[in-house]
Amino acid sequence: MTFTPQIPHWGAKNNQYLEKLYEYHSWLLDTGIKNGLISNKNKQLVWDEFIIHSLYFGIIIRKVDKPINQVYDLGTGGGIPGIAVAITNPNILFKLVDISESRVYELERLKSILGLKNVEIIRKDAKSILSDHNLYISRCYISSKEALSLIKSYKNATYIVSSNGEDLDHDKNLFHVKQENFMINSTDLRHIDVITVR
Ligand SMILES: C[S@@+](CC[C@H](N)C(=O)[O-])C[C@H]1O[C@@H](n2cnc3c(N)ncnc32)[C@H](O)[C@@H]1O
Repeated sequence: MTFTPQIPHWGAKNNQYLEKLYEYHSWLLDTGIKNGLISNKNKQLVWDEFIIHSLYFGIIIRKVDKPINQVYDLGTGGGIPGIAVAITNPNILFKLVDISESRVYELERLKSILGLKNVEIIRKDAKSILSDHNLYISRCYISSKEALSLIKSYKNATYIVSSNGEDLDHDKNLFHVKQENFMINSTDLRHIDVITVR
């Protein structure tokens, strides 16, 4: 199967960062799979499901209607989505949080390999990071329903979380929820919920 490192039309601005995204892609295929940071997938799936899916979080972050100094990626695993979004948004600080010592160790090495100055790696329980006003992102760490419950007491916190596309039953007085739908390639649709505490 031939590998096509495509970026859908919505991500055209990210083409200037392709070289570093390729480097990260190679790391995922090698260290990422070898150390169980991601499941064993072929080159194309790793590109589409991990890199391209991640880039859409950056599209949403750029549209968030509040000043952003830092973004927390909770349950980041192999730096997903935090690393690809940090590569393509060098002016924002990304704090990648995971509870696993081995994942944090590999991410520190990756940060140095890629020379990323706008990334911090934090080994903590994600729940201890939550506070008012902050911006959080997560892919495949928690469901949107769990995210609602996690941030409900944090005023003006925003959680951008990968979802299965189902309607999210929520209290409209407490939360504002917007669902984003996008293609990661010519055939596969993905969903991300943007949840803000009022
Ligand atoms: C299913 S993986 C998802 C990783 C990555 N976000 C992705 O999309 O591939 C979940 C990650 O959450 C981390 N994790 C689990 N419980 C956590 C907690 N309480 N606080 C921080 N990280 C946690 C695990 O170590 C693992 O790396």
